[in-house]
Amino acid sequence: MSTVYQATASAPVNIAVIKYWGKRDTKLILPTNSSLSVTLDQDHLRSTTTSRADPSFVKDTLWLNGKEDEIKPGGRLATCISELKRLRQATVENEDPSAPKLSTYKVHIASYNNFPTAAGLASSASGFAALVASLAQLYALPVSPSTLSIIARQGSGSACRSLYGGFVAWQEGVLPDGSDSLAVQVAPQSHWPEIHALICVVSDDKKGTSSTSGMQLTVETSTLLQHRIKAVVPQRMKDISKAILEKDFDTFARITMADSNQFHAVALDTEPPIFYMNDVSRAIIAVIVEYNRLSLANGQGYKAAYTYDAGPNAVIYAEEKNIKEIIQLIVSFFPQREGTFKDNLGVFAQGAEVN
Ligand code: PMV
Repeated sequence: MSTVYQATASAPVNIAVIKYWGKRDTKLILPTNSSLSVTLDQDHLRSTTTSRADPSFVKDTLWLNGKEDEIKPGGRLATCISELKRLRQATVENEDPSAPKLSTYKVHIASYNNFPTAAGLASSASGFAALVASLAQLYALPVSPSTLSIIARQGSGSACRSLYGGFVAWQEGVLPDGSDSLAVQVAPQSHWPEIHALICVVSDDKKGTSSTSGMQLTVETSTLLQHRIKAVVPQRMKDISKAILEKDFDTFARITMADSNQFHAVALDTEPPIFYMNDVSRAIIAVIVEYNRLSLANGQGYKAAYTYDAGPNAVIYAEEKNIKEIIQLIVSFFPQREGTFKDNLGVFAQGAEVN
């Protein structure tokens, strides 16, 4: 009987509180600034990937949600797969001549997202992270998640942060080969388990401007981006890391919202301008701003922090004790929309579906 070489891994999406927007190297996917995110710890927003290596396979093949996806030679998928094969050879096969030569076999990879693909819900992040994790398991690679994050980064920048749970920084790095542009864990989820994320699905349509083309246009045309990279993000990275370590929700919330606002400002400062938020997104901001204003007036500090990626969906970070109240608030302003992703506005809390 021949041995079956197969492994399955799953990775959740992460939602940035300091946004990555801009590449200094488009091939290696090296960013123009460091970023920081929270990896969502829930079942609703995950990619699960199974990889199998077999000498009878004739080509590397990928199925995404059951449909075959092209692996373009030299493209991002091909790069990730060949980097992992190279690591298998270097760290396992060259060390142990009796180890099966899996790096010479073609692989079949099947990946599923349990949420809409490319709707501003970071499907590429969980997708590439799960793919890299599943191949790393298949190949029994003796390397750290940070090393794997260097490979996931070359699939989709933000994917590097999904290799860790909890609060994760992607350090931009300085080396031209990208070997120091990797993810590190700032704190595990267990450090601050009170932080929850509420996902408000405003729309599950595919987004208009992809992050790849959008950020490239921003790098080429936005003067505000230059100010952001040099004068804003470095300090925010320090301040929000400190806030996380000190469990200081006020600072965490203030920086999260300011950084989401500035990311959308640099999108608007792009030529031609890019609009990712819609009227519902802006209405949710208004609700959260007023909710915080009342809370601050009562001396209770910030209670919620909104953030938006390259799409109209809101993610609201809040402490667990306030989540129920925030769900009620959102549902009262946007009624009949609680439920599944098929609705106009599904509301999901990290850890549990909201009923
Ligand atoms: O990794 P990409 O190419 O999908 O870019 C993600 C960009 C944002 O989601 C808008 C910000 C971020 O840091 O995740």
